Amino acid sequence: MSYKVLTPEEAAAIIENGENIGLSGFTAAGTPKAVTRALAQKAQAEHEAGRPFKVNLFTGASTNSHADGALAQADAIDSRTPYQSSPDLRKNLNSGKARYYDMHLSHISMYMRYGHVPSVKTAIVEVAEITDDGEMTLTTGAGNTPTYCELAERIIVEVNNYHPKELKGMHDLMLPLDPPDRQPIPLTAPAERIGSTTWKVDPAKVVGIVYTNEPNGVAPFKPSDPITDKIGENVAKFLEEELTAGRIPASFLPLQSGVGNIANAVLGALGRNKKIPSFQMYTEVIQDSVISLMKEGRCTFAAGCSLTVSDEKLAEMYQDLDFYKSKVILRPQEYSNNPEIVRRLGLICINTAIEVDLFGQVNSTHFFGKQMMNGIGGSGDFARNGYLTIFTCPSTAKGGAISSIVPMVSHHDHTEHDVDIIVTEYGVADLRGKCPRDRAEELITKCVHPDYQEKLRQYLALTPQGHTPHCLAKAYEMHTKFMETGDMRNADFSA
Ligand code: COA
Repeated sequence: MSYKVLTPEEAAAIIENGENIGLSGFTAAGTPKAVTRALAQKAQAEHEAGRPFKVNLFTGASTNSHADGALAQADAIDSRTPYQSSPDLRKNLNSGKARYYDMHLSHISMYMRYGHVPSVKTAIVEVAEITDDGEMTLTTGAGNTPTYCELAERIIVEVNNYHPKELKGMHDLMLPLDPPDRQPIPLTAPAERIGSTTWKVDPAKVVGIVYTNEPNGVAPFKPSDPITDKIGENVAKFLEEELTAGRIPASFLPLQSGVGNIANAVLGALGRNKKIPSFQMYTEVIQDSVISLMKEGRCTFAAGCSLTVSDEKLAEMYQDLDFYKSKVILRPQEYSNNPEIVRRLGLICINTAIEVDLFGQVNSTHFFGKQMMNGIGGSGDFARNGYLTIFTCPSTAKGGAISSIVPMVSHHDHTEHDVDIIVTEYGVADLRGKCPRDRAEELITKCVHPDYQEKLRQYLALTPQGHTPHCLAKAYEMHTKFMETGDMRNADFSA
């Protein structure tokens, strides 16, 4: 091997204060581990010596505790994009210590190539293998690796021997030309291939390789509970009815499913409903439930950007890698989340909302208008362009003190124009073809928790006129009362 072998500390020493760094991977899948951890230690030592040290971090999506977690704890992140879900980083960006810009995940690669966001100087890339001529077999997340490697001046490679070299063949990697030379993406089914199985970089840019042997560290998902099970069953029943009505073709359509515990539970329920035919997925993250459904023959193929499966599930996959290589393709997020493909394939898109308003606007990112949870992720890429766009959420949070359905969302990610269906444990609100007043009635009757139905009707009654019957003076009464008293049920909508 002709590359210089570095310790993580030697690799971290290369990185300077204020540098823009691009990480491979998507979620904890395929994100580097050793160099970012060493970088956090370097930052801490620099701070103790009275010197400033922060970097600007560009990733695929969320990362792992060795990247966002360790760097945030060391206060080593100045700016961060496009998505995160780290409790430590969340604290820093909500307190103003780190600057975060929350982006659609399909945008970041092209925006960097266009110069809309700064370019990266160093790419840190986790691979299963790199050849002497720079051909890299990525691990379990494709993310923005092709763009970061193309644009970076130098590349630090983490060869993670935990991942088998036989992962080669699971990826489908490519970079589009930029306007005015952009071409149509020749993809008409999730399982088609249009790119290469490895990504080739200029070996002269590789400043060194670091050897590691570590799992991704994805924790098992929370087991489903009666509420998430019921939400899942409601989604499955609704899709079954759409099939029967002929609004979904009998052969079904590929599914996109969002991140988190609810999304994982919804997929499990879809798998259990045998009236829904076996399906394919064209999605962003492939979570644990998809792998179980593949084993059962319920999911026949999954194209995504990452295998965000628990360490336990990934070990199971590696025992039977040939089977999964015939059923999984990993693509860069510019392709897995591409609006052109989402619309062409006719995806059924199922994502999770934090808050929904009476007229169908969805908040996926903020609590009470100001506290960032994670970010918009790919939800906007899919919601705007899906064949059918579904958002799910429990009807309440915090033991019933918060209603997920409110008069007006406190932060706005998806507009009423992009939202077709809302599902809670109480039922399914079909917002298609309905005016704002009818949407509100549908949501109150089908999805709102009984404790809040009367309150929300009282809110609507405050404004007898107007196309969208908002009362601006009371639109945030439920939020305000929660902040003052700890319970939205104390909202007062008496005229
Ligand atoms: N107000 C305040 N808090 C609320 C709330 C509301 N309206 N609704 C939910 N919460 C809280 C819950 O109580 C819970 O907090 P707790 O664990 O302290 O009780 C937390 O928000 C969410 O719980 P979590 O278990 O993390 O939910 P999840 O794993 O199902 O994730 C999202 C839900 C919305 C956070 C997640 O799906 C997300 O980040 N989505 C945006 C990105 C996206 O959609 N990506 C997919 C694109 S492919």
